[in-house]
Amino acid sequence: MDEQTLGTASPELRARFEAAGGKPVYVRRMFGRIARVYDGMNRIMSLGLDGRWRRFAVHHIVLGPHQSGLDIGTGTGDLAIELAQASAPTAHVVGVDFTPEMLEHGRAKLIRLGLANRVELRQGDGEHLDFPDDSFDACCSAFVVRNMADLHQGFGEMLRVVRPGGRMACLEISHPRNLVFSALFDFYFGKFVPVLGSLIGRAFDAYTYLPTSVTAFPKAPKLKRIIEEAGWSDVRYYYLFGGVVAVHVAIKPTAQ
Ligand SMILES: C[S@@+](CC[C@H](N)C(=O)[O-])C[C@H]1O[C@@H](n2cnc3c(N)ncnc32)[C@H](O)[C@@H]1O
Repeated sequence: MDEQTLGTASPELRARFEAAGGKPVYVRRMFGRIARVYDGMNRIMSLGLDGRWRRFAVHHIVLGPHQSGLDIGTGTGDLAIELAQASAPTAHVVGVDFTPEMLEHGRAKLIRLGLANRVELRQGDGEHLDFPDDSFDACCSAFVVRNMADLHQGFGEMLRVVRPGGRMACLEISHPRNLVFSALFDFYFGKFVPVLGSLIGRAFDAYTYLPTSVTAFPKAPKLKRIIEEAGWSDVRYYYLFGGVVAVHVAIKPTAQ
């Protein structure tokens, strides 16, 4: 199995990906299994802060009248919903995800919230987007790029489908900078969350993937360099909650 299919990962994770037939297959199956409990687990794991973090991210890419935005790895649609609610009422948001079970929960939520005409959820692969160049005014993702097999490819695809001058916001779990806080975070994510996942969703395996995938993920300054290498300009990042999460924002250069 080649490097691209396995992605950047610890030996333990690589073995899991290899057994499943590659990282994308492993990730898709895992989210398919936990789709039912995903929203509830997010609220609990983030101590109710995940909504605030998403609002901070979309605030950098708010859409004007008749503009359109793309949410990569939209899952059950929470970031797409925040973007639509922060944007002009005539703005349109498309959410793409490769796990049908997550999208099903997202569609039901959009109907409940009366947003089905403003947010459209489609099945698709964020690393191989099915949209023409320059189709969107902005794009975003939350808790997704860590799951990608190839970060350069993922950020390159986002760049391709956003128009020149358009914006990108990426919210992802990061690495706390304070050593004490970092040790607490490791314990919480590494020991407590998997037990919680198995109690609530009978998904111990899925919620052990979470801490191991974070360990293997680049720190914020390195992620900034990867985003720049993919072609984005004016890349900046913000730490939230002591660096537990980071939001990277960038602009597509007007002349390439
Ligand atoms: C942790 S969930 C995040 C969902 C949502 N963005 C949120 O804020 O709650 C990660 C989602 O990304 C999706 N995903 C991961 N890699 C993907 C890819 N290459 N293409 C499309 N979806 C992907 C998974 O299916 C899953 O639904």
